[in-house]
Amino acid sequence: MKLLYEGKAKKLFKGPQKGTIVQYFKDDATAFNAQKKDTVIGKGIINNYISSRIFQAINQTDIPHHFIKRLSEREQLIKEVEIIPIEIIIRKVAAGTICKRLGIKEGQVLPNTLVEFCLKNDELSDPIISREHIEMMQLANNFEMETIISTAFRISDFLTGLFSMIQIQLIDFKLEFGRFYNSNGFHEVILADEISPDSCRLWDIKTKKKLDKDRFRRNLGGLIEAYTDIANRMSIKLPELNVEK
Ligand code: TYD
Repeated sequence: MKLLYEGKAKKLFKGPQKGTIVQYFKDDATAFNAQKKDTVIGKGIINNYISSRIFQAINQTDIPHHFIKRLSEREQLIKEVEIIPIEIIIRKVAAGTICKRLGIKEGQVLPNTLVEFCLKNDELSDPIISREHIEMMQLANNFEMETIISTAFRISDFLTGLFSMIQIQLIDFKLEFGRFYNSNGFHEVILADEISPDSCRLWDIKTKKKLDKDRFRRNLGGLIEAYTDIANRMSIKLPELNVEK
């Protein structure tokens, strides 16, 4: 398969049909703009299964997305889109960079769901940007931004419900969107990338145990166990991971 792009945690290959891509989940973990790097054996497989299941669940809504089907342990078939170079972050509880940036205590429930944007640019370390910056740099037009923001809020409500059913609290998450072009040359803005414990903060509702990539960021250990716990709660049958405990 022809490699089209290699990112920090995934590779994209040319798909079998026109307009399709094969998204491959690697075991690489990075944090703090790739200053911290490691390989966590089996992480890519679990993220592929969890993200596939979440995108399938999103089919219950009318939210358009890129996911077609999971092909193998590490691969999924997706629609080819032009990624909009913005990350949208939704926060319900304070954690991570917002605590450092604004001095807010981790775990504080935010009075309203917060939206932030980052520029997808590794050389600039994905800086936080405003809607006015997005407009000034013409990264997305107003109509696209309205779609991105309203869809992100709908995903937030959907994921909050999905995770609360399995005793998990959704703290924050990051989404990416892409332009899906049809044969008329028009495009639709659709949800892309992945939704996994790499891109969400997820805490056990009762114990507040971190079940997400903070286990790697903060050297807490037990990342595979935590991701497996999420998969088990979602009734996902994972393949044998051959991970040494
Ligand atoms: P944030 O606290 O801003 O940054 P960090 O990931 O460096 O702690 O992250 C908020 C949420 O968005 C968190 O669940 C991780 C996710 N996220 C990504 O998946 N990729 C990113 O590049 C960023 C900035 C955040």
